[in-house]
Amino acid sequence: MLKPIGLIEGHYECRALDDTLPVFTELLAMEIVERRTDQATVKHPNTDWRLVVHESGAGAPEKTFDNHYGFRVASHGEVEAAWNYLEANKQKYRIDKITKPQSAHFAYSVYFHEPGGNHLEIEYYNPGSALHGRSHTAGHWQMALTEKEFPGRGYFPQALTHGTLQCDDLAKSKEFLIGVLGLEQAGGMSDRTIYVKHPATPWYIVLLPRKPRQYLAPVNRLTLQLATAVEVEQAHSEFTSKRNSLGLNDIENIERADGKVSFIFSDLDKNWWELTANG
Ligand SMILES: [Fe+2]
Repeated sequence: MLKPIGLIEGHYECRALDDTLPVFTELLAMEIVERRTDQATVKHPNTDWRLVVHESGAGAPEKTFDNHYGFRVASHGEVEAAWNYLEANKQKYRIDKITKPQSAHFAYSVYFHEPGGNHLEIEYYNPGSALHGRSHTAGHWQMALTEKEFPGRGYFPQALTHGTLQCDDLAKSKEFLIGVLGLEQAGGMSDRTIYVKHPATPWYIVLLPRKPRQYLAPVNRLTLQLATAVEVEQAHSEFTSKRNSLGLNDIENIERADGKVSFIFSDLDKNWWELTANG
């Protein structure tokens, strides 16, 4: 089993950075950490999990609702405020499919679709739910954003809390993510969803079995950091030799760039992951 030191990045495909980055910075309180020609890294001030946003051009496919990232606000009323703000500014940001605030599993949320082809969520989670075995609901921020940092919207996205992935076989995916990749289950959940996270951090991935489902390109992936470059190399050779028994769909070559050693692979349910380390 791998011993990752963190779930450090989500990789997010969009059509044009100039359209999608303002959605992250002006509607979701993210900050741009790095900007290149066709790639930018954004981060929420309360969440060390970074999103690497890739510009794939007008042909980037529409992602399903099941591949959204979710941001949390601290009160029920802020979900209503977010809905109002999104509705009032939908033309400016070219967002659509804005859902009326809706309740589900202790959560109250609004979803919308951004011009890069992705859905995003702003949610409130009843803190009482942490007392009901839903550990993923707690501990996402230390210092709440206020009107000073995020003025004029009436709501404050306090953290990037989760991403979601479709899968074919929930039990097999769970076994792989926990038993091989070294993630842990977060919260109780049901036989219809599983929440996984890195043991050291609160952000989590929701796995949703779907049939039929959408298979994503490698540019939509999640990155786990290992402690050393040697561990990345060992994981690559182990995955290659055990590819059939692990059911891995694809394993790409090791890359060395920007002071990092990494490779990407597609798991038994064709979801894409990256293992990386400094070195
Ligand atoms: Fe969500």
